Amino acid sequence: MNPKIGIYFGTDTGRTRRIAKLIAQKLGDRADAALNVNRVDPDTFLAHRVLILGAPTYGAGELPGLSTGLAQESWEEFLPRLRGRDMKGKTVALFGLGDQDKYGGEFVDALMILYDAMVACGARVVGAWPTDGYSFKASQALLDGRFVGLALDQINQPALTEARIDAWLQHLAHELES
Ligand SMILES: Cc1cc2nc3c(=O)[nH]c(=O)nc-3n(C[C@H](O)[C@H](O)[C@H](O)COP(=O)(O)O)c2cc1C
Repeated sequence: MNPKIGIYFGTDTGRTRRIAKLIAQKLGDRADAALNVNRVDPDTFLAHRVLILGAPTYGAGELPGLSTGLAQESWEEFLPRLRGRDMKGKTVALFGLGDQDKYGGEFVDALMILYDAMVACGARVVGAWPTDGYSFKASQALLDGRFVGLALDQINQPALTEARIDAWLQHLAHELES
């Protein structure tokens, strides 16, 4: 078992990587360095008891991957490799990047795909986040009126990001103890 928090992200244009690295930096020695999910094998991924996973939304509300036009594999290709694996006892927190203006009808939808995959493996997903302060028409990533993870918009609200991350991590502090 890896006692450190594992931080894995998918990205095309690098924004989600920058956020993942910022989160890793804020967690200090409690977390391993943030890694692109296309560079990890399922066993290494599953060795963490606590995971923070980040994804942008691409396509029509989809995870990044080859079918949404990325040049490299990403979450779309990694998640099927976890199918049938047991994540009971693991705690997972999610963050998602999107564009609430241009894609306001499918804002951060990919968060829900990650959420469903984690729950299907038996993981406990923590870190739901309120919709206050965002302006979008619809999102598949809502459960009981809250995002299933931290929603970030580096296109329209970059100035709000760091405070959102700080508040989210503070709210999660107990859950992330590994
Ligand atoms: C072709 C394309 C499709 C997108 N689709 C969505 C979408 O459905 N929902 C959303 O919230 N954002 C969407 N976005 C916005 C991206 O998620 C956003 O730009 C994100 O910051 C990209 O992250 P990355 O730099 O890590 O790849 C889309 C962007 C592009 C270029």
